[in-house]
Amino acid sequence: MTDTTTPTNTQEWFYPSEEVLQGAIIKDYDALYKRSMDDLEGFWAEQAETLDWYKKWDTVLDDSNAPFYKWFVGGKTNIAMNALDRHVKTYRRNKLALIWEGEAGDQRTYSYYRLWQEVNKFGNVLRSMGVRKGDRVTIYMGRVPELIIAMMACAKIGAVHSVVYGGFSEQALADRIEDAQSRVLVTQDGSWLRGNIVDLKKVADEAVKRSAVVEHVIVYKRTGHNVMMEADRDYWWHDLMALPIASTKCETEVMDAEDPLFILYTSGTTGKPKGILHTHGGYAVYTSTTLKWVFDLKDDDRFWCAADPGWITGHSYIVYAPAILGVTSFMYEGAPTHPYPDRWWKMVEYYGINVMYTAPTAIRGLMRFGSTWPNRRDLSSLRLLGSVGEPINPEAWKWYFDVIGKGKCPIMDTWWQTETGGFMITPMPSVGLKPGSATRPFPGIDVDVVGEDGKPVKAGEDGLLVVKRPWPGMLRTVYGDPERYKNQYWGKFKNLYLAGDSARKDEDGYIWVIGRIDDVIKVSGYRLGTAEVESGLVSHPAVAEAAAIGLPDELKGNIIYAYCILREGNQPSPQLEDALKNHIRHEVGPIAVPAHIEFVKQLPKTRSGKIMRRVLKARALGQPEGDVSTLEE
Ligand code: PRX
Repeated sequence: MTDTTTPTNTQEWFYPSEEVLQGAIIKDYDALYKRSMDDLEGFWAEQAETLDWYKKWDTVLDDSNAPFYKWFVGGKTNIAMNALDRHVKTYRRNKLALIWEGEAGDQRTYSYYRLWQEVNKFGNVLRSMGVRKGDRVTIYMGRVPELIIAMMACAKIGAVHSVVYGGFSEQALADRIEDAQSRVLVTQDGSWLRGNIVDLKKVADEAVKRSAVVEHVIVYKRTGHNVMMEADRDYWWHDLMALPIASTKCETEVMDAEDPLFILYTSGTTGKPKGILHTHGGYAVYTSTTLKWVFDLKDDDRFWCAADPGWITGHSYIVYAPAILGVTSFMYEGAPTHPYPDRWWKMVEYYGINVMYTAPTAIRGLMRFGSTWPNRRDLSSLRLLGSVGEPINPEAWKWYFDVIGKGKCPIMDTWWQTETGGFMITPMPSVGLKPGSATRPFPGIDVDVVGEDGKPVKAGEDGLLVVKRPWPGMLRTVYGDPERYKNQYWGKFKNLYLAGDSARKDEDGYIWVIGRIDDVIKVSGYRLGTAEVESGLVSHPAVAEAAAIGLPDELKGNIIYAYCILREGNQPSPQLEDALKNHIRHEVGPIAVPAHIEFVKQLPKTRSGKIMRRVLKARALGQPEGDVSTLEE
């Protein structure tokens, strides 16, 4: 197992070095996987034992009301107790929980003790505003430590956080506040990106105007630029944290394992985003187990997940799992290329990062600047690398492996989703890699590739990716819409979770994820529904009908291409195209802005009036249109 040759095509194997393998926590994946499948509940109970519980569970898995599965039923815990309270009673009290660097180069560090204190203080602030167990709090911030503090404080007092990515616009934020019915919004004046201020407070103000449910807004001061503060509604974070009420002692709410921890909105096939709901118990067990084994994290590691806490990757692997494991997590505020394209590599060197986890789109983006930038830095602290969000193409894999990992760091290509809570299909150090494949299911995860009939397809054939047995980190429901949960994920096949991806399983049992089967587009790793872009476009007075598709792009994976039919009296023009793009920027957010908008007279539709995006895509790519028997034109 010492062949460390670089793969030149996607069928080549790569084995981690003896050194990585010798030190690995899990040395025999196959044996562990078999054990987990033979006794699923026993396996998960064993992992749950590594966490602290106020009261142990009575039942590991309750499947009596499938697909509304419950895990560790009767167990009492709180994820904040596992992430903070228990560590301050040990040597970890003085260990760094978080290292943070601002875009301007400012640094802050938090020991577990300090983080615990800050979380306690903010927990008390929230309680003083009347936030109680089960109440929802929306958080709309940039990548600052206060975002983590706010999330953990919610968890600590039993409130349910709903973090909205700082790149979303006023309407998207308002919709999410409205759906969650949050009375409290936590935001900041602005965040730094490429040396510019992203005016978060302005967006928040507009969102609050559109969603009357918000009573209090807490504003963390980061940029110090002038913002509007409305009397009796808006409060500065630092003022509140200086009040006597913000004591460093805050009682942790004792939660049922199945009590909700957070809602995270994600795009689906309709214009309305889905509030994916995760819980205190199962999510804690699942995220910590996956992180420990896949990234092989030891107590002295420095782990950098370069995602945003506003996405599931950040929730699970910046905020919660590293803290549960008691490792040191690193977070950076700004753009990867600011002020120069070596910013990330400079920080790897400076902080001695051991494990780095990012997305193919970021790798491709940095790869464009050539190898000289990373080559100038000492990256020898790196032991393992990770990738997530979309399939990683061979060129990016090779560059990441050779230039960043210097040919000695295996790449953990992790397939998972907002809905799954943590890694599902992923290598770990004792699994041989095939670049481009997320490899094998994590222990306890039973996946398969099936045809339209729900039966497994032959090796090498394309099919639908499904999960055959429940797992502790799974979503419990779509917030406020259990029917949508049932139909979307469990409606197509009885007892199979439908991931929404197409995939292939090869002769060795390796899974190759191909892409989405539904109307979800992955742009720079972000998940967007075609329906969100379309409903954004038709909300403009000039647009009668719209269709959006994803087209392949070298850098972003996909770009959005939109077609619009104009209302009577409007003429196509470059000015109108710009106006529509600007409109989307405000309605949905910058990530949803189409790269091109084409004005058309007609759209290909089925007789029942459904737009055939598949046909639009084939035409745009100059490919055969396939079966068009249902097309009415
Ligand atoms: O299509 C798959 C793709 O991202 C989708 C999930 O998106 P989201 O909920 O935003 O979560 C992203 C971060 C976990 C999946 O349905 N995807 C994610 N990871 C991979 C991937 N596709 C291929 N390979 C991956 N490693």
